[in-house]
Amino acid sequence: MQFFITCTPGVESVLRKEIERIGGTNLVVSDRGILCSGPENLMAELNVWIRTGNRVYLVLAEKRTRTFDELFDTVLSLDWRKYIPKDAPIIVDAVSVKSELESIPAIQKTIKKAIVTKITGDRDSLLREDGKIPGIHIFALIRENTALILLDTSGEPLHKRGYRTEALEAPIKETLAAALVMLSGWRYREPFLDPFCGSGTIAIEAAMIARNIAPGLSRSFAGENFPWYNSDYFKQAKENARAKIMTERKYTITGSDTDPEAVRIAKDNAKRAGVSDTVSFSEKDFKAYVSEYISGALVSNPPYGIRLQDYDLDLLYKDISTVFTKNTSLFGGIITSYDFGKYTRPNLWKNRKLYNGNELCYFYSKKFEAK
Ligand SMILES: C[S@@+](CC[C@H](N)C(=O)[O-])C[C@H]1O[C@@H](n2cnc3c(N)ncnc32)[C@H](O)[C@@H]1O
Repeated sequence: MQFFITCTPGVESVLRKEIERIGGTNLVVSDRGILCSGPENLMAELNVWIRTGNRVYLVLAEKRTRTFDELFDTVLSLDWRKYIPKDAPIIVDAVSVKSELESIPAIQKTIKKAIVTKITGDRDSLLREDGKIPGIHIFALIRENTALILLDTSGEPLHKRGYRTEALEAPIKETLAAALVMLSGWRYREPFLDPFCGSGTIAIEAAMIARNIAPGLSRSFAGENFPWYNSDYFKQAKENARAKIMTERKYTITGSDTDPEAVRIAKDNAKRAGVSDTVSFSEKDFKAYVSEYISGALVSNPPYGIRLQDYDLDLLYKDISTVFTKNTSLFGGIITSYDFGKYTRPNLWKNRKLYNGNELCYFYSKKFEAK
């Protein structure tokens, strides 16, 4: 089987490592996701284990496609009676990049028509769609006149792990939070701190990574309901994942925030994620860290004034810079759209372009500075 795992631009390198570790082969990295191959059970393994990707799609076809007739024929050639259960709603999404087929509504209409034609044998039929049955989500990604026809196997996007039932304003997605932890170079033994923790996402993802808790352990996936797919693969993937959770080792993972409500929510989220014994949260103003000695990794998503206002941002970022400069063994970084680059020395810091939701940001990260 071949899979396409979508991701937010900027996290391809960590997603690639994840897919390789899970067992995907023949990887092809592109700017919207990564193609890989593997046996049937890989669908379940990818869904259960991927921390940084958005969705796992099964590749149904990959074909040069310049006209609507070619698109229709490509879709018509697939075995839709197998993939679409009786009366299941069919949802078609499409993206077109640098291709002759540009109109998204026309692409969606053509694909749906080809599916209906294949199932009913009649181009002008309509299919009954029962809203109570889980929908089947098809995604067409057309890039430079090559169409990938994809079947969504995740259902809810992978950032929905199930633990963050509460959040305050501007929470970072769990998938991006996990990517930042992986990009920071943290290796679990050193202390880990998020001093602007909000609902706790970054510290909770760090705790899940350290304890090897699979992010998809407590949720369901669209693929579990596919009649043609052996759902035991999902059961097995989750069972094996449960057996791989580390329970012995101790970690120092903390989050802090000035907002007591954020601290309460972070604690509750940690409980739901099964890591309340691994991560601790407390109320603390970042200013307090300026006069303390800290070491290990600091990974954070400080306020940057677009969605959160009323802070003296310049002073706040100056303090962040001071904390990193003073504590030479402190490494990690911050994701922000604030121009933190003015405080970073190019020989010690890297910046990586990333999107936090739709906002263009940078992850400014500092390497461990050996004395
Ligand atoms: C962008 S949000 C962080 C969101 C978080 N990553 C999440 O997933 O929910 C920034 C957080 O910084 C906190 N904050 C603002 N000023 C602070 C300060 N001086 N010290 C500590 N926390 C502060 C806010 O209360 C807010 O929760």
